[in-house]
Amino acid sequence: MDNKAKREIWVIGSSNVDMIMKMERLPEKGETVTNASFMQTFGGKGANSAVAAARAGGNIKFMNCMGNDVYAPLMLEMYANEGMDVSLVRQEKDISSGTALVMIGDAGMNYLSVAPGANYKLTPELIDSVKDEMKEASRIVLQCEIPTETNLRIIELADQYGIPVQLNLAPATELPMSTYNLIDTLIVNENEARFLLDQLGKEMVPDDDLAQALQETGAKEVIVTLGADGGWVVTGDKMEHFPAFPVEVVDTTAAGDTFCGAYAVAVVEGMDNHDAVHFASAAASLAVSKLGAIPSVPKRQEIDAFVASSNLQ
Ligand code: RIB
Repeated sequence: MDNKAKREIWVIGSSNVDMIMKMERLPEKGETVTNASFMQTFGGKGANSAVAAARAGGNIKFMNCMGNDVYAPLMLEMYANEGMDVSLVRQEKDISSGTALVMIGDAGMNYLSVAPGANYKLTPELIDSVKDEMKEASRIVLQCEIPTETNLRIIELADQYGIPVQLNLAPATELPMSTYNLIDTLIVNENEARFLLDQLGKEMVPDDDLAQALQETGAKEVIVTLGADGGWVVTGDKMEHFPAFPVEVVDTTAAGDTFCGAYAVAVVEGMDNHDAVHFASAAASLAVSKLGAIPSVPKRQEIDAFVASSNLQ
């Protein structure tokens, strides 16, 4: 195996066509807010993480199912232009690509509604059809916008092949608790952390203790992201808070996905835990300062310059 193949990061997950409405504030129930501005971009938690990893300098193979519509060839072209290996991206017949309605209000807060479309065509059988090739991955990056049984099959195979798995439990999804023993890095935001703690029967955990409490899942490393408060990373008996970089918040969409993509690259490059979360936090902060999912994802140069110009340690 050559050096390039050894460092290949596989992102297996969703792609969506994002329909974004930005307004001064989100509507109340039954209310219509006018004067919104509209933007159609490409997103999906899998694609966002894959592009984030590619722009952060990773060697990315993206596995995804898109639909039979005008968007699919455009998405494929965009991924290829990012330098990603798209040989495992499929276009399914008689179904639309995943679609997300994103409503953004003040302070970048958003409401999201997702129609999975072709993302749910990414089945365990498809994973089995590429399992020999999968052995080349140096890290597998997952989220929860494809069928759960597919993620479980990937995790099972990765365990057999000794490939580290990074799971972003977004959106919050119930997995068998026994799965978490096989996860190397579990990344969650506060809501997802509380969803998982609820499954463990734990309530009333302060934000600063969420990551430590989630060690009970069995995941080897737990990262909890807390927006403007940065986050926590816990591995074994080592626990560290990392800061968010101060930015003006425009749109938080894809901040978590950007963190995950950048983190995977940092780990595969051999950065230590402290530098890797710092790098990923810088990338996520840059993403919230721009509108849209993929359009907001920063390139490596921007991340490095942002880290270098900051006083944060
Ligand atoms: O995490 C942000 C993403 O969630 C958006 O791009 C949207 O497609 C939804 O999947």
